[in-house]
Amino acid sequence: MTKKDENFFEKKMDRREFLKKAGIGGAGLALGLSGASAFLAPRLDKQEKISYGNEKIDFYGKHQAGITTPMQKNIYFVVLDLHTTDKDKIIQLFKDWTDYSSKLVEGELVKKDGQNALLPPSDTGETVGLNPHRLTLTFGVSASFLKKMNLEQKRPQLFKDLPPFPKEQLREKYTGGDIVIQACADDEQVAFHAIRNLIRKGRNAVTLRWSQSGFAAIGDRLETPRNLFGFKDGTANVTKEKDFDRVVWADSKDWMQNGSYMAVRRIQMFLDTWDRTNLEEQENTFGRYKESGAPFGKKNEFDEVDLSLLPDDSHVRLAKEVDKPLLRRSYSYSDGIDEKTGQFDTGLLFISFQKDPDHFVKVQTNLGATDKMNEYVTHIGSGLFACFGGVEKGGYIGQKLLED
Ligand code: HEM
Repeated sequence: MTKKDENFFEKKMDRREFLKKAGIGGAGLALGLSGASAFLAPRLDKQEKISYGNEKIDFYGKHQAGITTPMQKNIYFVVLDLHTTDKDKIIQLFKDWTDYSSKLVEGELVKKDGQNALLPPSDTGETVGLNPHRLTLTFGVSASFLKKMNLEQKRPQLFKDLPPFPKEQLREKYTGGDIVIQACADDEQVAFHAIRNLIRKGRNAVTLRWSQSGFAAIGDRLETPRNLFGFKDGTANVTKEKDFDRVVWADSKDWMQNGSYMAVRRIQMFLDTWDRTNLEEQENTFGRYKESGAPFGKKNEFDEVDLSLLPDDSHVRLAKEVDKPLLRRSYSYSDGIDEKTGQFDTGLLFISFQKDPDHFVKVQTNLGATDKMNEYVTHIGSGLFACFGGVEKGGYIGQKLLED
């Protein structure tokens, strides 16, 4: 951190953060020290991890960020409809988005304005003074984008539409759409601001179709986040670079080189029913213990799963026996109250990245009608998107698709 940054943070920190930075936020307060006496407590810098949110993640690179990037705390996810098929306009839009995105992830304004007070500012301004908070922006297109843009001949063979799945109750308002943008950050306002400004720039070419904000219980210790059923979610994910080629990145020489396919499901979770279910049943639903996250018959979260010890209809058994790995990157959502039932309108914005969409299809088909978890969830939204390879400096999002 430079001297300038330090001054900035001193100014920005509230009292609690200030005490933390002074090394007395934890033990100093726990010891019952307050006010000036707290400042006499020993420094605890080494024991306490403090995040200022000033970490940045590059926009440019071989792969898009926000796929294998360790999860951030918040997501703002949007699906957009094209309302022009003019290729030049779309190319310009993707160029503008590239320029904006590269600035947003640095925590900068999308554009610095002159002094003309008679014009609306180019940047909406709500992140002034905020850090980048590991913002990532990930872009993809659906099969309908290719069709509308007359690019059907470039559709990779494996980019097939998702088939209907048993028990799903998809709602039109959470399906379809041509372009996806996923903004993830450790700050909700940073994620929202990014999407807001990208959409604003694209007003003449796209309209919002559906969106979802979400949160994940990401702490400082980088433990597996728990979903709204209280279970650790993401344990089986691969985390090492060497595994990403096998699981995540498309084997492709075309415009999807270094890209990945994103499957999305908006899954409603019936917390009221779940909360009336006894612990044994809850654990049988997954085949893992709730507190430790360990698979049945084992002690620790990351112990190897022995499928023979898991109930036949348990979620983990059914998802694992297919042997088609996915990288899950899901966020919980809470959208107030369901008007029909008077219960929480909550669930999981399930997102998985895989090298071949068929991996998702195989897993979801096996979960199908059998998954014990179906008693507590309904899939109401869906999407499949081809997320481009990364953007090199000087290039723009989707360039290989639109130009080659
Ligand atoms: C509300 C919906 C869902 C909830 C609450 C949920 C929860 C969980 C939990 C708690 C685990 C065990 C820990 C872990 O390895 O992450 C798990 C594993 C898994 N889930 Fe889900 N899940 C949901 C939907 C889905 C969907 C839609 C799919 C894919 C079609 C899926 C695929 C998987 C896979 C592949 C595993 C890992 C299995 C293994 O290899 O051990 N899940 N899920």
